[in-house]
Amino acid sequence: MSKSRVIGSEFVEQTRARGLNFLEVFPGDIVTAVAKETAARINIEFHDGPIEKPAPLRTDGNTATRRALYRRAPKWIAPKAVVNTRAQRFSKISIIGSGGVGTNLAHLAANHHLAAEITLIDIVPGLAAANALDLNHCSGITNTAARVTGSENLEDVSGSHVVVVTAGRARTPGMTRTDLVNTNKRVIRQVGNVLKTQAPDAIVIVVTNPLDDMTLEMVRCTGFDRNKVIGMAGTLDSSRFRHALAKAAGVSVADVSAVALGNHGDDMVPVTSTATVRGRSLESYLNEEAIAACVDDAITGGGQVVALKKSGSAVFAPAHAVIELLDHIRGAKAGSIPVSVLLNGEYGINGVVLGVPTHLGINGVIEIEELDLSNTEVEALLKAAAAIQARLAAS
Ligand code: 2OP
Repeated sequence: MSKSRVIGSEFVEQTRARGLNFLEVFPGDIVTAVAKETAARINIEFHDGPIEKPAPLRTDGNTATRRALYRRAPKWIAPKAVVNTRAQRFSKISIIGSGGVGTNLAHLAANHHLAAEITLIDIVPGLAAANALDLNHCSGITNTAARVTGSENLEDVSGSHVVVVTAGRARTPGMTRTDLVNTNKRVIRQVGNVLKTQAPDAIVIVVTNPLDDMTLEMVRCTGFDRNKVIGMAGTLDSSRFRHALAKAAGVSVADVSAVALGNHGDDMVPVTSTATVRGRSLESYLNEEAIAACVDDAITGGGQVVALKKSGSAVFAPAHAVIELLDHIRGAKAGSIPVSVLLNGEYGINGVVLGVPTHLGINGVIEIEELDLSNTEVEALLKAAAAIQARLAAS
């Protein structure tokens, strides 16, 4: 008989992270009151153990031979291999700001059951609660087990694995993202001060503009490790760039590989030197002018949406771009992904947040990848860094 265990709330959270919805309690185990509360909150049930496991299937030589012959029959279709993605489900994610991006993000996250609990927070009375209720009403159709809650209280971020900050003013036509710096800095500071005490271990994804400046502001006011505070822009800008390239080359987006780095603004660096269409260089499909137009399309994509909408900015693509980050964090996807992160000498840049390729994991940034960029692209990155540094010095 194994030794009795003290089951605390962390153990319950780990059970949820392993994708289980029950926890086996053996005679002699002690379950703490906090663990019981956590279990009730994230829908984990306690079952008296040991739970009876089905006996292993036994067979004899004749049965094995019959099965082997059957498998050689022309109509037999091999079962699909079990894919073990090791993807985790978050126990809780919080989304601050229940506007277009935040609400669409909650919708996608609930539909994909990325978290047991999704908390939407907005200061507008009733808005987050209404959107949460509306989203929960989908569950009778989608059968998702994700539960969405709405709140007006920032302190409800507590217990979150990831906090996504979308709150702040959006652009109106004619405004640059930088024009929002002073207004949105106040929002970031207010949120950051609460995160420091209520969600000190959370990974923070900043979506508020101007993205790179606001991500730096979040690092500064929380004091969190730079690996825990990332800005979502590169996944969005790269998606816009790939869309433009696919359209111009007349191929499917899945045939295009391309990233956009640098600043989420006019100093964005859509990387052409490493981009490919059907595995070949861009020049195999597009002339110089067409490539330059795609680069411009990626840089101005967000502004084009603002100009058409007249009030407010893009919502669907930014929400999807955050899902991409969440999927990399939880291990559902792997490989390099561009995010905005505080640089510490990478690409020769220090003390500035910029979009660079990274590898993400359950604790945030694992590694920053240094791509072999062309001289022009490195210069463009340095120019983006210098522009941010000048803004920082002036503010
Ligand atoms: C965009 O580029 C809102 O910054 C966001 O659409």
